[in-house]
Amino acid sequence: MKITVKKGSLADVKTEAFILAFCEGEKALSGPAADIDQKCGGLLSDIIKSGDFAAKASEALMIYTRGAVPAKRIALVGLGKKSELNLEKIRRAFAKAMQHLRGLKIKEAATAFDTDLLPDQKEKVVAAIVEGASLGLYQYTPYKTVGREEVKDLRQLEIIARYADYSWIQDVVQKTNIITDAVCFARDLVSAPANEMTPGILAACAKKLAKKKNVSCRVLDQGKMKVLGMNALLGVAAGSHQPPKLIILEYTGGKKGDAPIALVGKGLTFDSGGISIKPAEKMDEMKTDMAGGAAVLATIKAAADLKLPVNIVGLVPATENMSGGGALKPGDILKSYSGRTIEVLNTDAEGRLILADALSYASKYKPAAIIDIATLTGACVVALGEEVAGMLGTDDPLKKALREAADATGELIWELPLWEHYHELIKSDIADYKNTAGRMGGAITGAAFLSKFAGDYPWVHLDIAGPAWTTKDKAYIPKGASGVPVRLLVEYLRQYSARKQHVH
Ligand code: BES
Ligand code: MN
Ligand code: ZN
Repeated sequence: MKITVKKGSLADVKTEAFILAFCEGEKALSGPAADIDQKCGGLLSDIIKSGDFAAKASEALMIYTRGAVPAKRIALVGLGKKSELNLEKIRRAFAKAMQHLRGLKIKEAATAFDTDLLPDQKEKVVAAIVEGASLGLYQYTPYKTVGREEVKDLRQLEIIARYADYSWIQDVVQKTNIITDAVCFARDLVSAPANEMTPGILAACAKKLAKKKNVSCRVLDQGKMKVLGMNALLGVAAGSHQPPKLIILEYTGGKKGDAPIALVGKGLTFDSGGISIKPAEKMDEMKTDMAGGAAVLATIKAAADLKLPVNIVGLVPATENMSGGGALKPGDILKSYSGRTIEVLNTDAEGRLILADALSYASKYKPAAIIDIATLTGACVVALGEEVAGMLGTDDPLKKALREAADATGELIWELPLWEHYHELIKSDIADYKNTAGRMGGAITGAAFLSKFAGDYPWVHLDIAGPAWTTKDKAYIPKGASGVPVRLLVEYLRQYSARKQHVH
């Protein structure tokens, strides 16, 4: 779907439908709604007075203009009480409205908004409209061949801006389009089935991004990993016929010599559990175990398109976790790239093994910070639920910056502790560390394990096992791959690079 900006007045726009968003209990209509109300002879005021449309959050009502304005229909959508209005409600309302229109096979729509909706956050309101509208319409259809013509597609939303507002709205829409495109790119990568999203294919997707300005990609293959001694990553890959890849994607939008932000993403293109095999039920969902890696690729794509003045290195260890004849066995001991030894007590705790080697490799870049993103533990989902990512790490300013980015984007994270005593739990009797400390505190012991490989760099781990995939439709996250936490990471990088520009 394309979102564009046009100068003019909504009341003059010829379109199949336009969307008007209102707050609940407003006495007088304002902004574009007042305009249209007048042209329609008070129709909107009458509807609101009648109580048929109360403008509760995400409530929707379609009305037909019968020539009073050039637009054929008006979709009224509720935002709830003005005193409780926030960006998340705007995202949801616009997602709802767009889905409603698509359901009616409408192909194009227009909207305008009251610039006083949240007067001190005008730009964010526009971004929220774009986010809600485009993310809400996401659908993954490449494998549907029966009734393909029936797939409904709303192609265009025009945001109508007054002359004075045009240029800043245009700027926000362009930038937000870049970000929502990146989110949908991540969703596509995660939605693809594991037979068509192998480590090699994921690496090829990363290489395509290197066509962008300031982006380069290198892929380490099995031979190179052997030479380097990446035996933790190789160990996980040994049970699969698919050769593993370590994807290295660099973006150099910042000053030469400026320390990069390292983004390390778990790229398990399928996690069967290996010899410690998972139950059959819902095992199909384990194609999403590369959601962290997908988020890293997508974030770098957005950073490059936004031309952010920052250096980034993305590292994505990619492999399957299968139970072939070469597979890891419980009790095996691996010597990792860092030189530390790991006792593999459970082959299903494979994410931390491949991340161990990638995290140690990150120190080659002397990064300003390391952020790893991984669908690491079911325990994190038990602790925080399906909609919230766990955050654990060693650096308070980095955690604070990520929390702010989470609050701004609505991609929720919550911190779990990483106190000293947890580190005792991952010590092995015969090796340096063991890869699991059992079920208790599993999200935390997983992070404690990772911390051993992040060196002394400021490091934060985001466990996205819950929010990476949704089993129920949510307003702007249709069921399936969510693309979380791409918006959060891009927001973090925008803030980080803005702060840096300021200092220089
Ligand atoms: N990929 C899984 C974690 C996961 C679970 C992601 C549910 C998404 C939804 C990970 O590799 C795993 O299997 N973790 C184990 C760790 C345990 C063996 C210590 C788990 O959570 O059970
Ligand atoms: Mn696993
Ligand atoms: Zn896994």
